[in-house]
Amino acid sequence: MDKTSIHGMWSSRLMFILAATGSAVGLGNIWRFPYMASDNGGGAFVLVYLACIAIVGLPILIAEILIGRHGRVSPVNTLRGLAKESGTSRNWVAIGWLGIVAGILILSFYSVVAGWTLHYAWLYLKQLFGGAAITDPGATFTSLLSNPFELTFWHGLFMLLTVAVVALGVEHGLERAVRFLMPALFLMLLILVAYGFTTGHVGEAAAFLFRPDWSKIDGNVFLRAMGQAFFTLSLGMCAMMTYGAYLPRSGISIPRVGAAVALTDTAVALLAGMAIFPLVIAFGLDPAGGGPGLIFNSLPLAFNEMPFGIVYGLLFFGLLSVAAWTSSISLLEPATAFLVEKYGMASRKRAALSIAVLCWALGLLSVLSLNVWSDVRILDRDIMTFIEFIANDLMLPLGGMLIALFTGWALNNTILREQLSEMPEALFTAWRWLLRIVAPALVLVVLLRALA
Ligand code: PHE
Repeated sequence: MDKTSIHGMWSSRLMFILAATGSAVGLGNIWRFPYMASDNGGGAFVLVYLACIAIVGLPILIAEILIGRHGRVSPVNTLRGLAKESGTSRNWVAIGWLGIVAGILILSFYSVVAGWTLHYAWLYLKQLFGGAAITDPGATFTSLLSNPFELTFWHGLFMLLTVAVVALGVEHGLERAVRFLMPALFLMLLILVAYGFTTGHVGEAAAFLFRPDWSKIDGNVFLRAMGQAFFTLSLGMCAMMTYGAYLPRSGISIPRVGAAVALTDTAVALLAGMAIFPLVIAFGLDPAGGGPGLIFNSLPLAFNEMPFGIVYGLLFFGLLSVAAWTSSISLLEPATAFLVEKYGMASRKRAALSIAVLCWALGLLSVLSLNVWSDVRILDRDIMTFIEFIANDLMLPLGGMLIALFTGWALNNTILREQLSEMPEALFTAWRWLLRIVAPALVLVVLLRALA
C-alpha cells in the first residue's frame, strides 16, 4: 500500500492542496462563473450551482481523489486495476477514456480563452510603458476576436507554457508553479472586491447574484449550473484522480483536503462575482446577458478609473493567466501520464508535447469560430460554444455520474474504508449513499431534462 507513483509525488499535504486548488481555481471561477450567472438569471443559477457543489461535487471530488490514491497511475490504468481488484466489470475503464477525451476537448478551447487573458496582460504591460489606453473595451475585445492570427499566437503561447510545466514533471514543474501564485491571486481578488465597495453598487450586485428569481429556473439553468459545478471543481474528467495518484499514502484525510479545495474554489468564484458585478453596474452595463466577453468588457472600464488602474490591470490579467495555467496543467497531465505509462518513462516530454499539439490544433476550430467561421452553427451554437457544451455540460457530468456509481456500488468496501479511515462511520455512510443514489439520480434527471 505504500507504493509511490512512478510519475513522482507531492512533497506535502499543503502542496497537494495548492495543486488541487490550482487546478480547480481558474478561468472557470473568474471568467466562466460570472458570465454563466449573468446569462442564466443571476441568483437562481447561483443557488443551483451551490447546491450542485455541495450535494454532487464534493462527494465525487472525494471519490476521485481516493480512487487516484489507491490506484497510483493514470486514470485508464487505475480504473483497470481497481476494477480487477474489486472483481467487477472491466468496462469501468471507459471512465478513464471519457476523461481523457473530455480533457483534450476542454484544453483546446481553454487555451484559447487563456490566450485572451495573456493578450490583456500584455496590453497593460505596454500601457505601463506608455502604450495606448483601452478607452473602448468593447472595441478592443471585438478586434482581438476578429483576428485569427493574433488569437492563434496567444493560444499557442499559452499551450507552450502549459506543456513546459507538464514536461518537467510533478515536483519540478507542477509544484513550483503553484506555490506562490495561488496566494497572490487570492489577494488580488480581495483588493478588487474592496474596490467594488467604493462604487456604491455592492447591494445591487449582491441582489443580482444571490436573490433567486424562481421564474428563471428551467431545465437549461440546471444543466448549465451542474456543468459549471463539475467544471469549476475539475471533476468528471479524472484530473483530480490523477492528482490523487501523486498523494502520499498516510497522514492526509481525503475528505478534509477535498472540503478545503471545494470551499476555496467556491469562495473564489463568489468573490469574483462580487468584484465584477458592482463594476458592471457602476459603469452602466447590463449585469444580465454579458456573455463570454463580460470581464473583458467591464473590468478595463474600472481599471481606467482606479488609481494605479494600469498596474491593477496588469496584475489582474497576469494572475488570471496564471490561474488558467495551473488549471491547464491538470487538463494535460492525465493524458500525458497515460502515454508515459504506455511508452515508458523516458518519453514524458514527448508525451506531453504530442497531446499539447493535438489540443492546440483542435483549438484552431475555436479560434476560427470566433471570426472566419462565426456563421457556422451546430445545434444552434458556434463551434467553440458547441465544444464547450459537449465537454463541460455533458461529458463532465456523465463522467462524474459514472465515477459516483463505480465508487458507490462497484468498488470493494475494504479499499474505501482503508482510504477513508479517518472518516466517522455516519459520515461515511451518508457519503456512500450520496454517491450510490443521490448524485447519479440528480445528474441523470438534469441530463435527461435538458436533452429531452
Ligand atoms: N477547474 C478549472 C477552472 O475552473 C478548469 C478545469 C476543468 C481544470 C477540468 C481541469 C479539469 O478553470
